[in-house]
Amino acid sequence: MIKLIWKKDNQWKKLFPVFSRRPELVYLDNAASTQKPKTVIDWISDFLENDYANIHRGLYSLSEKSEELYYQSKYKLAELINCKPSEIIYSYNSTYCINLLAQALVNSWRLWKWDKVLLWNREHHSNILPWQTLSKIFWFKIEFINEDKNYNIDRKDFDKKFDKKVKIISLSHVSNVTWQIMEIEKIRNKIWEDVFFIVDGSQSVPHIPVDIEQIQCDSLIMTGHKMMACTWLWMMYLKYEWIKNLNPLILWWWTVKDVSIDDFSLQNNADKREAWTPNIVWAVSLLKALETIEQLWWIEKIQEHEKILIKQLCEWFQKRKNEINLIWSYESDNRIWTFSFTVSNEKNFNKIWDIFGKNNICIRTWWHCAYPLHKSLNIWWSARVSTYIYNTKKDIEKFFNILDKII
Ligand SMILES: Cc1ncc(COP(=O)(O)O)c(C=O)c1O
Repeated sequence: MIKLIWKKDNQWKKLFPVFSRRPELVYLDNAASTQKPKTVIDWISDFLENDYANIHRGLYSLSEKSEELYYQSKYKLAELINCKPSEIIYSYNSTYCINLLAQALVNSWRLWKWDKVLLWNREHHSNILPWQTLSKIFWFKIEFINEDKNYNIDRKDFDKKFDKKVKIISLSHVSNVTWQIMEIEKIRNKIWEDVFFIVDGSQSVPHIPVDIEQIQCDSLIMTGHKMMACTWLWMMYLKYEWIKNLNPLILWWWTVKDVSIDDFSLQNNADKREAWTPNIVWAVSLLKALETIEQLWWIEKIQEHEKILIKQLCEWFQKRKNEINLIWSYESDNRIWTFSFTVSNEKNFNKIWDIFGKNNICIRTWWHCAYPLHKSLNIWWSARVSTYIYNTKKDIEKFFNILDKII
């Protein structure tokens, strides 16, 4: 079984031109962004050469074609996460999405003085800062749920902090430091219907099946560039009820149904939230990325491949347990295939960064936009190695060879 997968994944690597241009490259920074397959790269130039125009109300075939592809990408994404295409909104990045959402909630009186927002200390800064900024103006409170010994949500602490004042809970599905998959459904089952539940799926959607009907969130934030599409395309699922009822933050000609000199009325669909000429080209790149995933392996296949690699990586890290501190666990269950670690007795992370970089091994260090978690662990930095479908056993071996030299 393992052999079969390893053989196959060599074939996968061939689909990504960067690896034939730079055969020495060991790309293990996929949690930050993934490389793009030839299908996506070719598709973008093909689209720009043949079908590109601005969308919405262009009464000519080029614009119609462009619009069709733009909305097809929403259909594909909706299929992936099991929601309606009309509940998908495109934006620039996750920070922008969460800022827009947080401000829309305040503008719609869903969050006000003395209310509470519950977060977890392992959140990416993009899920902390928008709330902190607004809480200074609107005087709502932010509380962070503690974690237990096993890095899970401390249930007692959750029960203590979850009360009638809580209006919003916003949590990452997979932490971008521990890489643990959070049991989102269990949290959903514990909270009241009227609490607005946001899930940051930036690190989960590219790796594990995510089903909106199962996790029952009000909003899911996702990213395209971590699943082979281009950067500057973030996607937000927003339940239709909220698309209808939350005031949009920014108004634009396409967000309104009617304008008079006295007033205006708003559209009742996802377009109401996209107050800009959309990033059409990158949306189309997402369509091709999702089609590629569908044709080649689909998300369950990625997970299958991941499970084997995770086990292997866990074993390899375990062998170096005395010298390497893995953040979270050496167990292979309930995690994705990215690992954050520190090296005992090594305080100079630049040195580590340098050695890997000089050997063409791309990893990332520092605090991964998660200061609060690093502070709670009493560390100032961690290194992170993150794999994707094209990584091979050889890549991992090269990584461990350098790590052993560092040790
Ligand atoms: C869990 C999580 N949320 C949010 C982000 C922020 O992404 P961006 O910088 O593209 O807004 C990241 C980026 O890696 C992430 O891992």
